[in-house]
Amino acid sequence: MTHNDIKWQQHDVNAAQRETLFGHQSAVIWFTGLSGSGKSSVANALEQVLAAQGKHTYLLDGDNVRHGLCADLGFSAQDRTENLRRVGAVAGLMVDAGLLVLSAFISPYRNQRELVKSFIPQGKFIEVHISTPLEVCEQRDVKGLYKKARAGEISHFTGISDPYEAPEHADLVLDTSVTSLEDSVQQLLALLKQKQIIS
Ligand code: ADX
Repeated sequence: MTHNDIKWQQHDVNAAQRETLFGHQSAVIWFTGLSGSGKSSVANALEQVLAAQGKHTYLLDGDNVRHGLCADLGFSAQDRTENLRRVGAVAGLMVDAGLLVLSAFISPYRNQRELVKSFIPQGKFIEVHISTPLEVCEQRDVKGLYKKARAGEISHFTGISDPYEAPEHADLVLDTSVTSLEDSVQQLLALLKQKQIIS
């Protein structure tokens, strides 16, 4: 069987109808940044506010996805690309389902973030760079992974033995070492309103 044998099925209930039912637009808010930069914390805080407002959300998190959907993948550039290809495809389906998707993945390479973006309809991919400096992430070392990476016990560790390519045109840049969680959430809500994703 080839891809030529598989045709895309058009269903009668579409994304626009689901958005109308939910009362808000769907989109992917893509948080990228170093391990320990605060991606999950900011995404979690934003999701709490959105959910309290009655928005339909889902938070996709690198650490969680790697327990199931991507449990077979490591951290080589190739495995990270496959990790993000799968997540991009899932996020694309969730956007089609009408959800506001929040995604927290290091996603260190620009081309990997472009790959994710290719699954999402135009204007619905919002890139947020959590730009907390490496020194701060390493000092926090919530999971003890930086210590292990410095000791050479973990290879390909982003920021230590693997690169991180910062976005050049992020929709928003937040440094959690200087911006509070509340402030970050307010800036994100303002951005979503400005883009007319929520009212
Ligand atoms: S990504 O690069 O493929 O986007 P992802 O966000 O899914 O990464 O997973 C990152 C998480 O895996 C980190 O928060 C950290 O807890 C853990 N981890 C384990 N090994 C590594 C590594 N070599 N580099 C980065 N993160 C790692």
